[in-house]
This record gives sequence, C-alpha cells and structure tokens, in this order.
Amino acid sequence: MANFISEAKINEIKEQSRILEVASEYVTLKKVGRNYQGLCPFHSEKTPSFTVNEEKGIFHCFGCGAGGNVFTFLMKAANLSFPEAARQLAKKAGVEIPRERRNEAERQNQQEKEKFFQVNKLASDYFQHILLSSPEGERALKYLRDRGLNKDLILQYHLGYAPDSWNKLLVWLNKRKIPLSRAERVGLIVSSLKKKGDYYDYFRGRITFPIFDLQGRILGFGGRILGKGQPKYLNSPESPVYQKSKSLYGLYQARESIQRENVVLLVEGYFDLLVLHRHKLINSVATLGTALTREHIDILKRYTKDFILLFDADEGGKKAAQRSLGLFLDKELSARAVVLEQGYDPDSYLREFGAERLMKKVKEAPLLIDLFIEETARDFGSSVPGKVAAVDKLAPIITGIKNLIERDLYIKKIAEMLGLKEDAVRNSLKRPRGESVEKYKNKKFADSAPRGAEEVLLQLMLEFPSLIDRVREEEVIELFHDPIFRKIGIKLLEEHETVGEIEPTKIIDLLEDEQAQGILSQLYLREADFNRENFERVFQDCILKIKLDHLDLQKKNLLTGIKEAEKKRDDSLSKNLSLKWQEVISLQKKLRKEGISS
Ligand code: UTP
Ligand code: MN
Repeated sequence: MANFISEAKINEIKEQSRILEVASEYVTLKKVGRNYQGLCPFHSEKTPSFTVNEEKGIFHCFGCGAGGNVFTFLMKAANLSFPEAARQLAKKAGVEIPRERRNEAERQNQQEKEKFFQVNKLASDYFQHILLSSPEGERALKYLRDRGLNKDLILQYHLGYAPDSWNKLLVWLNKRKIPLSRAERVGLIVSSLKKKGDYYDYFRGRITFPIFDLQGRILGFGGRILGKGQPKYLNSPESPVYQKSKSLYGLYQARESIQRENVVLLVEGYFDLLVLHRHKLINSVATLGTALTREHIDILKRYTKDFILLFDADEGGKKAAQRSLGLFLDKELSARAVVLEQGYDPDSYLREFGAERLMKKVKEAPLLIDLFIEETARDFGSSVPGKVAAVDKLAPIITGIKNLIERDLYIKKIAEMLGLKEDAVRNSLKRPRGESVEKYKNKKFADSAPRGAEEVLLQLMLEFPSLIDRVREEEVIELFHDPIFRKIGIKLLEEHETVGEIEPTKIIDLLEDEQAQGILSQLYLREADFNRENFERVFQDCILKIKLDHLDLQKKNLLTGIKEAEKKRDDSLSKNLSLKWQEVISLQKKLRKEGISS
C-alpha cells in the first residue's frame, strides 16, 4: 500500500526539510534573536507570537500553544495526514520514497488484509446483486424505497440484501474459491456447532450496509432485519480489518462535504445517516452501534473542529451524548448537540418535519456542556441533597475543562443555577472523594500542581540526555502532578530506553497529542535557566523539589482525610491517616537534611 514510509525515510525527510522554508509558505517570518517570528496561522492575533527555531527544527506559538516539528506544522497548516505530509515534504526536499522498501512482515500483513477486503467486496457485490436484480430482493427494495431511499443512494452506499437462506453466500464464495476460514474470519459465515467443518451464512434476510474505510475498501457489514424482529441489527464482528472504535459509517462518502462545510453531524444509526444524506445533509457520519470514541474524534478532527451531535431523543441518546462530553473536553473541542422532541430520531424527524426545520435546529444547537449542566441542575431539583448531588455529578466535567478562565466561568454559571456561592462550588470540586488511606495519599490536585521543577527537569532531560537514566532511577516522573508533563517525561524515558538517545522532533511525532506536542516544542524552544556549569545543581534541586512537593501534597490530602474522618467519627481511619501523616513528615525532614541521595 502506498501509505507506508519507513522510519529511516521519515528521518531522512526530516533532516532534509527546512522548517523555516515550509512555515514561510504560510506565515511571513522575521528574524528576532535566534528565532523567527510571525503571526500565527493557527489562531488570529495582532502581535506575532508564532516562533520558529530553524536550528532545532521546531515551531511554537506562545499565543495558542500549538507547536511541533516540520511534519506537525504541515499537517496542521495544510490539513494533511502524517503520510500525506511526509510525501509532500519528501517531494519538496527531493527525497525519494521507494515503494518496495517495506519489510517482509509488513508486506505479508498487508497482503493478508487485502484478501479480507476482497472477500468483503465479493459478498457486498453479491448482496447488491440480490437486492437489485433478483426476485427475493424485491421486498427489500420496496422496504428501502418506503423509507425514502432511492436508487442513487443505494448505489452510492452499496446497500444490498442478504437472501433468507442458510448457505447462498457460502455457495457463492465457494464457487469463487474463497477459503471458508477467511470468510469466517471476517464474520460473513459462521461455523456450525453441530457438525465440524460446516458453515452457514451469518446475514440472512437482512438489508446489508457495507462499512467503508477511507480508501473505499469494505471493513465489515451491518445487517437490518426487514421490518420488525429481533435482533434489529446484526453487525460483523471485529476482525483484522475491522475495528468499530476506529470506524465511522458514511465517512468515506461524507468527508469532502465535512471539510467543505467545516462541520460534522454525528448520528447513531445507519438509517439516520442515509436519510440525512437523502436530504442533502451529506456532512454526517454514524457510529456503529458503539459509543463515540477518542479515535473517532481524532479521525474527524482532521476535517473539522466543529462537531454537532444529533442523537436520538431518548434516554440512550442522552446518555451517549453525556458520555462523549468528557472526550470532547479532553481534546479541548466544544461539541454542540441538537435536542430533538422526545421520541424522535433524525430519520423520523426529517420524515415528519423536513430538512429545513432540522437545519434550523442544527444552526441553533447549544453547546453540549451547557446542555449537560442545565439538565443536571434541573434533574436534581432544588433540595439541599439534590444540589450536593448535582455538584458531585458536574465536578468531573468542570475539572475536565482545561482552560482555567473557561472553567471559572462555568463555576460561576453552576453556582448561579443552583443558587450556591461560587466558593462553595469551587471547594467541593477540590474535595477528594473516597475513603482509604491510599486514595487520600495519592489523590492529585491538578490545580495546585507545582509546575516549575517539572518543567525544568524536562528541559534538562532534553538538553542533557545523559541525565535521563538518573531521572529513571529517582522515579520522579511518576510523581509529576501535571499530566501533560508526565506524559512527555514518560515518552522521553521510553525512547531513551529503547533507542538510547533523544531526538525531540521525533518525540513530537510519538506524542500524538496536540497539547503535549505544543508544550514539548515550547520547552525545547525556551531559553533555559541552567548552563553547562550549573546544570548538575539545578538537576538535584529539581529532583528534591519534586519529591518534597509530592510529600506536601500527600500531607495535604491526608489532612483533608483526617478532617473528614473526624466529621464522620471514623476513629480508626482517622488514626491510620494520622500515622501516615507522621511518616510523611519524617520522610520530608530526612530528604531536606540529606538531599536526594537518601
Ligand atoms: P436504532 O435502533 O436507533 O436504529 O439503533 P436505526 O438506525 O435508527 O434503525 P431504524 O430506523 O430503526 O431502522 C442505532 C444503531 O445502533 C446499532 C446500529 O448501528 C443502529 O444503526 N444497533 C441497533 C445494533 O447494532 N443492533 C441493534 O439490534 C440495534
Ligand atoms: Mn431509526
């Protein structure tokens, strides 16, 4: 497959590419000291905070936090995938990418996959043939027509009909010399329990919906029963080519439209998607009977940052939308959600009220987080326990908001809606939940994280990789309070362990997380407070500080625990926590006296 580029090639492309040259095609850059600066292409600004360091091969925007290497830059600026960006850069730098360089295992794996795609394609063609040109397809065709789907759409989505028989597909595949084990592996046929070596068709008497990947290859199928019956849908199992958490129904057909409209409509059902498409709302995709995942969001994020959920107006749809909120917050995306009248799904809504009215709802869709807060406040009512429960339920959402100003605004909003003081809401967000000593001891307060030492230590690791082994021995990365710094630290340790050296622009690729990439590029760009002469002392200070801070945090958490235990008159818990507290104090004393080598 054309997508594969070896690691050695990637390194060559990176070495031959000039980030300054590439960035200059998108930004006017001026030399300022050792760096170049310009107006950031990733957010709108009036004073330049977008910075490129040619020597280090890195960019960072001190305004919006975006950052990375030449690959990341081009991916973001031109909206490309990693291989696409690599190819473009290779071309520019005159690096040739030989197609046959792939190693043998990789090649075989790919061949294997192609075979699975081939079986799926054969089956799909068979199903479509049955739907469109056989007597038994007539009922199915009528069903689809009755639900508003026309021939064009049927062709475009390659819908089909699996005949109501135990072995027609089996016979068809057999005739084409397809090994049955292969058809079984992708779930088209199932081996009989009664007789070994016997198989029967999995999809029988069902409309078939092939699920395509971005290259138009078929990963698997959904199959809907004609009319009423159980189960309503059968789905292909996961297979070497099909992972539901990474696949989206309709994306193959929708992606251009998503990019053009710069917004994606997310629905739950095959029919919802097809009917939306029928009404020219083509920028939509459906999950495949599974919850929305991080991977789904990552895939869609390449086309747009604007997500609108159009879930069923029932308990299930509501729960699914709420569950996805955490994912969006985690990626700092603000999804919106359309609330349909009770009992409707996008399909039935369109049928009854038409596209115009749905579009109006889409345009006015409120933020998912606002909906969630309002619903929670409403659901729990105005009693005191109700309010406490509402704050408890909202706590993980609010602490999940990464932007502190935004978080603050939401705290205000919640306080207002529940008629509470802001401080009361704020304090209850910080309260650790849980009973055991361990839980209290290890609870981390993200807000009070002492960042300085963690940052400087990462900078030291980047600048003096020889320190990395010592960092590992001291086991301090695990103590980092800041999750992003921790993530970067762990990557540095891993890479150093496996490769024996550190290449920051490569770490950026490995991180696969925009926020972490931005922070790493910033750390690597920034002037350090240490130099060749004093770095050993700075290093020791950092380690000591991180250890002491961690113990401070334990103390603080233990104290909170003790207070709560006292309130609840749980004497034994309170006593245990106090003992632990004493231990932590003496450990701190010892550290202060003897330094980190203790
Ligand atoms: P729905 O029950 O909302 O189905 O399930 P739908 O797509 O709207 O179908 P119609 O309109 O009733 O014909 C939503 C999605 O959940 C999965 C399917 O992916 C379906 O599209 N599902 C549902 C299953 O996997 N199995 C089931 O039995 C039901
Ligand atoms: Mn439906």
